[in-house]
Amino acid sequence: MKKIVCVIGTRPEAIKMAPVILALKKETWVKPVLIATAQHRQMLDQVLKLFNIVPDYDLNAMTPNQTLPTLTAKLLVQLDEIFSSISPDAVLAQGDTTTVMATALASFYRKLPFGHIEAGLRTGDLMNPFPEEANRVITGHLARWHFAPTMSSLNNLLREGISRDNVYVTGNTVIDSLLDVAKREIESSIDVPIGKRLILLTSHRRENFGGPFQEICKAIRFIADSYSDVHILYPVHPNPNIKEIAYRELSDHERISLCEPLEYGPFISIMKRAYIILSDSGGVQEEAPALGKPVLVLRSETERPEAVEEGVVRLVGPIRDNIIKEVSTLLEDKGAYGAMARGVSPYGDGKASSRIVDILKYSLI
Ligand code: UD1
Ligand code: UDP
Repeated sequence: MKKIVCVIGTRPEAIKMAPVILALKKETWVKPVLIATAQHRQMLDQVLKLFNIVPDYDLNAMTPNQTLPTLTAKLLVQLDEIFSSISPDAVLAQGDTTTVMATALASFYRKLPFGHIEAGLRTGDLMNPFPEEANRVITGHLARWHFAPTMSSLNNLLREGISRDNVYVTGNTVIDSLLDVAKREIESSIDVPIGKRLILLTSHRRENFGGPFQEICKAIRFIADSYSDVHILYPVHPNPNIKEIAYRELSDHERISLCEPLEYGPFISIMKRAYIILSDSGGVQEEAPALGKPVLVLRSETERPEAVEEGVVRLVGPIRDNIIKEVSTLLEDKGAYGAMARGVSPYGDGKASSRIVDILKYSLI
């Protein structure tokens, strides 16, 4: 029986790894071992509960307002201890967080083959997004299997000299989870006024901390002031660099609701109800097009160009005037809205996890 360690740390990793873990559990040739670093605590636990997944190891790493070096150092040491004691046949992690980069490095130090899920995303700018682009590059050069979601991510890896033999285009596992959870039709208990057009906002990126996030807040207030038939819902990320400013700048407006991060099921139901989505999230850029919702991305670049090329996602930057202009166009121009509100799914077909499991089986037995 082979032993594959799956490492997850944050909310999006849990959402995107859950279908892989569940698919591995159904196989007779492998025993998946789950390590939760708990780089996120509450937001990770929300997802584990939804998918009924219990970690075999929980490093309980999160501390309030943690720093990148402290977290990285802690995870490297703790992962190495577990790898040394259980000697897995392979290690898997997903995405571009500190957990993923530390897992790839800890695997490399123990000479364990590492599989990178959602491989090959790049902006080409090491500082943007920070520190995720560097995490992807480091992780990509340590991986044995690169599970790329799209052809464009495959091509990014080939340009960096990664061997074609080690890259597999599988689709993104986020669509596996989205389809699974969307069909469960879990309703949100969040109270948003009926009869208003709902704008859903999420924002948490480190490169937007400070001035850029203030700009986003000013644009949001302006939109709420200008359109009485609109309501804005913002489930606020618990990072103190975001939460404190969000509540200070936005909590007193009658057409803006702030709430805690929503569980994944209710969040999908709110995405379905939304008229427009404003976000700097990676996962939301992948999910919303599949639900036919226009997304304005609060960043100046994206590592997910496919939906932008389809015309259903648009980059507006954390720039007040751009955000206001593009939201106004979508609210006032039905043609412009219809062109962006098309259901397309460039990131997957819901079968990425089974492809990944088949490739691992072929390689390992
Ligand atoms: C992290 C990832 C980012 C990813 C995001 C998803 C890194 C460097 N950043 O950013 O790539 O897009 O997760 O959401 O890996 N906190 C809580 N409870 C939680 C989660 C976070 O209180 O459940 C607070 C804590 O104070 C914590 C802080 O948020 O110290 C920052 O968490 P961290 O994981 O370091 O950064 P994120 O901004 O969440
Ligand atoms: N999400 C959620 N509840 C929320 C906001 C987002 O479940 O209140 C989900 C969202 O559907 C997506 C994932 O969390 O699957 C994205 O996480 P996040 O934006 O924190 O990270 P990123 O994708 O930018 O790394």
